[in-house]
Amino acid sequence: MSQDIKSRIEQLRAELNRHTYLYYVAATPEIEDEQFDFLLKELESLEKLHPEFDDPLSPTRRVGGEPVKGFVTVNHPKPMLSLANTYSQAEVEEFAKRVTDTLGDQEFHYHCELKFDGVAVRLEYENGRLKLAATRGDGVSGDDITENVKTIRNIPLILSGENSPKKFEVRGEILMPLEAFRKLNASQTEAGEKTFANPRNTTAGTLKLQDSKLVAKRNLQFFAYYFESDSVSNQTHSGNLDQLVKMGFPVYPARKVCKNLDEIESFISEWEEKRETLPFEIDGVVIKVDQISLQEELGFTSKVPRWAIARKFAARQVSTLLKEIVLQVGRTGAVTPVAVLEPVFLAGSTISRATLHNEDEIQRKKLAPGLFVLIEKGGDVIPKVVSVDESKSKLSESAWKMPETCPECASTLVKEGEDAVYRCVNRDCPPQVRGRIEHFASRDALNIEGLGESIVDLLVSSGLVHDVDDLFLLTMDQLTSLERMGEKSAGNLLASISSAKTQPFPKVLFALGIRHIGANGAKVLARNLKSIQAIQNASLEELTRINEIGETTAASIVSWFGNEYNCNKINRLTAAGLQFEDFSGNELVTGSPFSGKTVVFTGTLETMTRDEAETLIEKLGGKSAGSVSKKTHFVVTGADAGSKATKASELGVPILTEAQFREMIQPYV
Ligand code: IVH
Repeated sequence: MSQDIKSRIEQLRAELNRHTYLYYVAATPEIEDEQFDFLLKELESLEKLHPEFDDPLSPTRRVGGEPVKGFVTVNHPKPMLSLANTYSQAEVEEFAKRVTDTLGDQEFHYHCELKFDGVAVRLEYENGRLKLAATRGDGVSGDDITENVKTIRNIPLILSGENSPKKFEVRGEILMPLEAFRKLNASQTEAGEKTFANPRNTTAGTLKLQDSKLVAKRNLQFFAYYFESDSVSNQTHSGNLDQLVKMGFPVYPARKVCKNLDEIESFISEWEEKRETLPFEIDGVVIKVDQISLQEELGFTSKVPRWAIARKFAARQVSTLLKEIVLQVGRTGAVTPVAVLEPVFLAGSTISRATLHNEDEIQRKKLAPGLFVLIEKGGDVIPKVVSVDESKSKLSESAWKMPETCPECASTLVKEGEDAVYRCVNRDCPPQVRGRIEHFASRDALNIEGLGESIVDLLVSSGLVHDVDDLFLLTMDQLTSLERMGEKSAGNLLASISSAKTQPFPKVLFALGIRHIGANGAKVLARNLKSIQAIQNASLEELTRINEIGETTAASIVSWFGNEYNCNKINRLTAAGLQFEDFSGNELVTGSPFSGKTVVFTGTLETMTRDEAETLIEKLGGKSAGSVSKKTHFVVTGADAGSKATKASELGVPILTEAQFREMIQPYV
């Protein structure tokens, strides 16, 4: 009996796997969705009744499992390298020349394929079963994301057996198809949530979700571009991809063995044109030497293979109408012109606004409302107005000028010295007030939960709050008298405002929003001067003497405290109970390996927050920095460390894992 059930379970699994393959990989489904669901239901109920036949790779597990706390770091047996990039045909020709120069008269071909704009992943299979899926991380080690990857329907979990070696590895790209991305954003909008910027970042974020059930709903897709096994040796990369196809892996069919540069070039132009018709994003074409033995002969530089190059497509541009130039007032009063555009869809998202930076830039580009402009998205996905679209509009003859008064409060705008920025100097100007409060409440500052944009807007527009100190005078009655504010949320808000009083001095100092004082500058000041009183009393010279405090910052501090309004605000905040003294008692610990050294943290640390790690380094007499340079002494890598780790290895800066770092600090803390 139990044997019958076992074989029925096995049969169902094999059948469901086959239909999953037919539907998601081969795109030749043989049964209706309802029939599939029917089989799945049968399997589910049998598995429930017979947990002894459980299999973590069962098709029923595609929906995700229990949430995890974090991801385990795994080392890559062979580094996951990136590719040399170029935007120009000339550089593709140079690449081909270098290849031919090295290979002499040996015969070879190139293999051209799409450069998928997603997230690289490495899959390990053993005995026909998916054993591990890992992110690229810093190239040397990445995160074990197997549970999340199991939910991606076109990745086989169990292979049917044919053509598959006992142990092998597949690498490829996970991406979010455009339709899935659009649907996701539509549902975000409907739920009143923020929309996602683009499919690539959304894919990366999705793969790092701790709840695989959510991943399962995001409809991610995989395309394989690499195969390796000790027991199989195909002669060519294209042969490897053919084998992957036979094994049931999704290999995108847009690929071609090319004999010469002409063929490469026509593959590139073909796909540069057809990219718009693809259901997912690509950002170029990858050209690889096809013969594996010759790939080995060409080898690698420290970072990239010499046998491959990525020919990236130029950033996509679209033309749209510049409807209006509006002014945005920031929390420090800086007034920035912003282009209001006729909404256009470009590279994964709809664009309706773009910063125009300042008056000079608008004049240089001869922009004016009513003209068509070209919009481009850089690698950073921030849309830019490139120029007037001269095929549709003439350059503006009259230069656009910054208004003389603030659009929000009508006070006169001031341009200081060389600064290209205009400022509204009225501190009561509503967007400045809102900006100051939002900054005060933000995560790196006092982290006041529930004090988001809309509540701040409500508090300011109702006249209850004129500056950050007013927050501490708010009462239950005042809050509940506001629209849409019930007793429960009012109570929560008061409690979280009150919790700001327990935040340490450096955070309070940063929260004040003094220009040029970032979170790190605030820490430095707090550590050196210990109290707000001392900072207030310090002269320009005393401030600049502090390591890491430059002249601009020092001048900004002196000027801020020179203002009576600000001093009164400090008095009120002190009375409210905020911490204006540094009690951390962090006497410097001497003699540690980090004393006098600069350390960069990258990736997510497991056993401490970034903040805690940086504070530790400071306590040990070291300094933490945000970017890697020749002056960096150590880089400490957490999960998913990115380009900083790569840069460190290029510069020969020692890289520590979190465990090694802990070991080194352990005797001193
Ligand atoms: S081959 C050793 N092929 O591009 C070379 N990579 O810039 C390994 N990518 O991290 C990469 N499509 O995430 C290769 N057809 C393709 C690709 C591809 C996208 C990504 C991959 C890699 C990055 C390198």
